[in-house]
Amino acid sequence: MTESKLHLLTDHSREEIDGWLARYPEDQKQSASLAALRIVQHQNDGHVTVDLMDAIAEYLGMEPISVYEVASFYSMIETKPCGRHHVSVCTNIACSLMGSDEIVDHCEKKLGIKTGESTSDGRILLKKEEECLAACGGGPMMQVDHVYYENLTPEKVDEILDKLD
Ligand code: FES
Repeated sequence: MTESKLHLLTDHSREEIDGWLARYPEDQKQSASLAALRIVQHQNDGHVTVDLMDAIAEYLGMEPISVYEVASFYSMIETKPCGRHHVSVCTNIACSLMGSDEIVDHCEKKLGIKTGESTSDGRILLKKEEECLAACGGGPMMQVDHVYYENLTPEKVDEILDKLD
């Protein structure tokens, strides 16, 4: 029998996962797997490990492989160490026409990294170019830790990034 990894989930993470579980039928716990991954990723400063995914599987009564599949499918889940704040600039067509390339360039220069990299202090991951985030009317836009910021200018980007701890 494999050893339980449930102790890896903090009380706070369990509480948040329970909040999601309450939205689904008792026999559909796997529906909370994406939310659980996001919660545990936050608990672990920006990425999930195999052990943490195993703990989620155990908590939700799923096979670990099913949790790994969800984690590898969604671009918002990181499975390798990275910055704890995730910054994604949309570079799809509408945002591109509104100047997203300039915003990406500005982020790279300001942070001293390329897209796909994290700052050396572990503060920020500048995610690889992101597909449409469904806020096209507000382009150029970016998502920071799941919060949307629209109609960006380099000055606005500075203000947003400077506030991240
Ligand atoms: S193209 Fe950027 S949000 Fe749709």
